[in-house]
Amino acid sequence: MWQPPERQKHTLPDAGWPSADQAAASRLFSPVKLGALEARTRTWVPAMVPWRATEDGFVTPDVIAWYRRFAEGRPGVIVVEATGIRDIPSGPLLRIGHDRFVPGLRDLVRAVREGSGGETLVFIQIIDFLAIRRRPPRDKYFARFLAITGRHREALAAHAGEPAWRDPAARDEAAVRAALAALDDAGVRDVLTAREVEDLEQGYRERVTDTHLPHIRELPAVLPGLFAGAAARAVDAGFDGVELHFAHAYTMASFLSARNTRDDGYGGPREHRVRLPLEVIAAARARVGGAALGARFLGDDVIEGGTRIEDAAWFAARFAEAGLDFLSVSKGGKFEDAKQPKVGASAYPYTGQSGYECMPTIYSDARGPFARNLPLSAAVRRAVRDAGYTTPVVGAGGIAGFADAEAALERGDCDLVASARQSLADPDWWLKVRLGHGADVRRCEFTNYCEALDQQHKQVTCKLWDREALDEPGIALAADGKRRLIAPAWRRPS
Ligand SMILES: Cc1cc2nc3c(=O)[nH]c(=O)nc-3n(C[C@H](O)[C@H](O)[C@H](O)COP(=O)(O)O)c2cc1C
Ligand code: SF4
Repeated sequence: MWQPPERQKHTLPDAGWPSADQAAASRLFSPVKLGALEARTRTWVPAMVPWRATEDGFVTPDVIAWYRRFAEGRPGVIVVEATGIRDIPSGPLLRIGHDRFVPGLRDLVRAVREGSGGETLVFIQIIDFLAIRRRPPRDKYFARFLAITGRHREALAAHAGEPAWRDPAARDEAAVRAALAALDDAGVRDVLTAREVEDLEQGYRERVTDTHLPHIRELPAVLPGLFAGAAARAVDAGFDGVELHFAHAYTMASFLSARNTRDDGYGGPREHRVRLPLEVIAAARARVGGAALGARFLGDDVIEGGTRIEDAAWFAARFAEAGLDFLSVSKGGKFEDAKQPKVGASAYPYTGQSGYECMPTIYSDARGPFARNLPLSAAVRRAVRDAGYTTPVVGAGGIAGFADAEAALERGDCDLVASARQSLADPDWWLKVRLGHGADVRRCEFTNYCEALDQQHKQVTCKLWDREALDEPGIALAADGKRRLIAPAWRRPS
């Protein structure tokens, strides 16, 4: 992962653990309305993909055990990982693009209800993403993947100073491919377009601006229906709410991004970029009944030319106006600044600076990783309030203790506090804090071992517990046989 140039190691902030009485009187453990629902506390486990679904997207016993374990910590809300809205193969990511996925999801909802004694609301994050391919070997790219056009012949002729490259009779396609393959790096940059160079160096990746491709041009026509269908299935499965994934590297965030230059009324000025998200919201709203409907989106794209907080705050007011029941603010996580993958691997959107800002580590700049992204949720919340709405805002990013969480709520940076990695490090942490056992919390070290597993599409675990008590009867182990898949139980002091 990218690291700030002025990298310095930070220490965990004072967690400020409260007594049970202080917790009971705190903002963090007070209820909050989410549309027609009420979360019992302002504590939130945001979406985290753990790579436990089947290859064809079904819920497994390991998925159920993972969410039951989070539920035992009794947070106000758990958001189930990004779940695909299309009925297409997408590896071991959960899917909700067909009714056949509903029974498994229903079991998952039941497990959260049981695990939390009915105290936790369970939402699901629904996502659309575009195609991405692995970085090709150089020889294969020039021999097969690159579509040769007159432009290549023209560029090759100019580069080599040989007009014969323009003439297919003189130089056939195989000769053009061989000549391109023989170019050095500077030559490749001279002859190929920037997009072709990227396809070669990073792997091919579709963008929302590829409107020459019919299925990309038609995204605004198909996505509202796909999101609405998925939202309806979520409600059918018993979820209390649906979170539309408008964040990070995926389709809807790309529509919102300032880099979206589509000229069909869905790109360019921010009024056009917000159009499809608003159409998705309207379509989903019509199918969710009394369930909560919200969106996770970016307060800042971080990448060059991307959306900044001014646009994000404006979008937030539009989302509130459209009747969303909550707004969850994230940051970065884009493909555009991802590190170059190895040949045969795909680019991963959390490897560049934008990825760092999404999941900041203990090795940070002077500001440090803790509560780092709250200025974004604060600005979003202000914009929503200024527009006359009370829509609750969820803040996330390096929230590492009670003091940070309570201070964020007191300052009005957010209305609910989301903690991903701290909840992974200790799924019981919310309950421990609430009961006055903060000293027992296993504190996240923010070194991103878990995120590295995610990057390799390996089952996500935490380094603080995955080698502990491996001989415990009945525990499930990861595919490598070396790690337990869920955190050991908390033996509650009597
Ligand atoms: C393993 C892992 C998987 C994640 N998967 C998702 C996801 O599916 N959807 C999402 O919006 N964010 C995802 N995130 C980002 C988190 O929800 C969260 O925004 C980020 O980790 C920052 O919060 P934290 O500092 O509390 O960990 C993931 C994070 C991790 C560590
Ligand atoms: S693996 Fe590291 S960063 Fe991830 S949850 Fe555990 S301690 Fe935190």
